Amino acid sequence: MRVPLIAGNWKMFKTSDEALAFAGDLARRVADAESTEILLCPAFVYISPLVQALRGSGVKVGAQNVFWEDSGAFTGEVSAPMLKSVGARYALVGHSERRQYFHETDETVNRRLFAALKGGLVPIVCVGETLEEREAGKTAAVVETQLRQGLKGLDSNQALSLVVAYEPVWAIGTGRTATPELAQEVHRSIRTTLGNLFGPDASSQIRILYGGSVKGDNVDSLMAQPDIDGALVGGASLDAASFERIIRFKR
Ligand code: 13P
Repeated sequence: MRVPLIAGNWKMFKTSDEALAFAGDLARRVADAESTEILLCPAFVYISPLVQALRGSGVKVGAQNVFWEDSGAFTGEVSAPMLKSVGARYALVGHSERRQYFHETDETVNRRLFAALKGGLVPIVCVGETLEEREAGKTAAVVETQLRQGLKGLDSNQALSLVVAYEPVWAIGTGRTATPELAQEVHRSIRTTLGNLFGPDASSQIRILYGGSVKGDNVDSLMAQPDIDGALVGGASLDAASFERIIRFKR
């Protein structure tokens, strides 16, 4: 069965002191939450200290992005081997904010995906439609294209180490969550696409997270849906109590 994954994406928030205080607090709060995998994706500069602070707690640390080359003259970039060497376990790939503000395309998503896998990181590939695309009835087509292009060249075996996150752009940071039924519909179609690409075995094992204004008061109904295997949480992951509530979702 698919182990639920609750991941916090801190985006560009928190100072060093705040990050470390949060880590201690969270580790105490979730010490007994063993049936759910917990992940924090802070800014690059906090990965190493958080890995140290969370050692033994069961809370994993990941990156918000990963560059596609292993090393070289690429000022400002961070590679998969670097992330692995400081203890990162996961990397977000193709978050909509990267697509929107930093020229991320399905092609660069694809390159980052392979770099993450080669470097031993679990890629969390993010997909999702804009409000305009949803209103034009294009959601399924947009998400399918993002998957087909972003995952191009991946084989069924590699697909087993993949996580997909569905984050409708219009639900991110807006307080406007997709209804559980609407999210489930897209998750179902994502699993169908994954089945077409990698076969039924792989597609039944790949976790698909929902992201976009996930909070303590909507996580239970989202997690009750059969194809929602976890959450990618922005704002509500910045506060240890609200993140704990999400980690303790009830199905
Ligand atoms: P919010 O939870 O703040 O809407 O952010 C979602 C997100 O983008 C997580 O990656």
